[in-house]
Amino acid sequence: MRAEVDYAKEIQEFKRSMNAVILAHYYQESEVQDLADFVGDSLALAQAAASTKADVIVFCGVHFMAETAKILNPSRQVLLPDLKAGCSLSDRCPPGAFKAFKDKHPNAFVVSYVNSSAAVKAMSDVICTSSNAVKIVNQVPKDRQILFAPDQHLGRYVMKQTGRDMVLWPGSCIVHEIFSEKKLVQLKVEYPEAEVVAHPECEQAVLRHADFIGSTKAILDYAVRSPKQQFIVVTEAGIIHQMKRAAPNKTFIPAPPDNGCACNECPYMRLNTLEKLWRCMKERTPELTMPEDLRERARAPLQRMLDWSQ
Ligand code: 13P
Ligand code: SF4
Repeated sequence: MRAEVDYAKEIQEFKRSMNAVILAHYYQESEVQDLADFVGDSLALAQAAASTKADVIVFCGVHFMAETAKILNPSRQVLLPDLKAGCSLSDRCPPGAFKAFKDKHPNAFVVSYVNSSAAVKAMSDVICTSSNAVKIVNQVPKDRQILFAPDQHLGRYVMKQTGRDMVLWPGSCIVHEIFSEKKLVQLKVEYPEAEVVAHPECEQAVLRHADFIGSTKAILDYAVRSPKQQFIVVTEAGIIHQMKRAAPNKTFIPAPPDNGCACNECPYMRLNTLEKLWRCMKERTPELTMPEDLRERARAPLQRMLDWSQ
């Protein structure tokens, strides 16, 4: 019988021998986050991927995030522990239908959320993430109509913040759309001192109860610096790992979804496990690749996002 593998130890060894960097999103399993060189939100991960000097980027997140890393840093090998780690937002915005949507508004300026495929990005004028969406939309020329895809809830939130009218693609995240407003209100009654922190992918009915709305990183930073001690967290529960690390004396309560579960986990993000991370580094596969012409077309709107985010 094979002796048990010490995944964490071997992953550290692979990292050195391959000159690899492990980038992880906050929604990864805690044990995966603990092995990462950098844990961040979509914008910070894209920036880290663009600037890394490592030969190999091991991306512990979902497919569009690894794709973004490859688009921004093509000379690096990009590995993703499970290539099937998709995203409901990206999957429900197929390039053919997106093109038809765009063709109906030929003069519009197209802002696409980073949670989209490279093919959709390639048809966009600029990309945004949840942390810079307001800033990006504020920079779109005032005389242009705006198309926003694929998250309608983030789109509505941005419209409110910027006062810009936008035509929204009717997409949503299967994780954030199932938070229960009723259970959230019950939790607020149970914890009257708690602040509610929420991700803008949630529906308006849920967001109206929030004391703070922001990207995963913004929510984390807010909870750490707030004088309050208790927080109801309305996003994927993986973020609570870093919240507890940064503020061990505070209490973080995951908001429940409307399906009988106590907390809400992204089924795509959770496809990446410690064992799959170990295997992908050992075998150097699965690797994220894409045609060079597509990469070039998708790079321009992403680069514009990075420039506009400064
Ligand atoms: P952030 O960029 O806020 O981390 O969001 C990523 C995501 O997929 C949210 O569901
Ligand atoms: Fe996509 Fe939602 Fe999962 Fe984020 S939480 S990766 S938006 S399915």
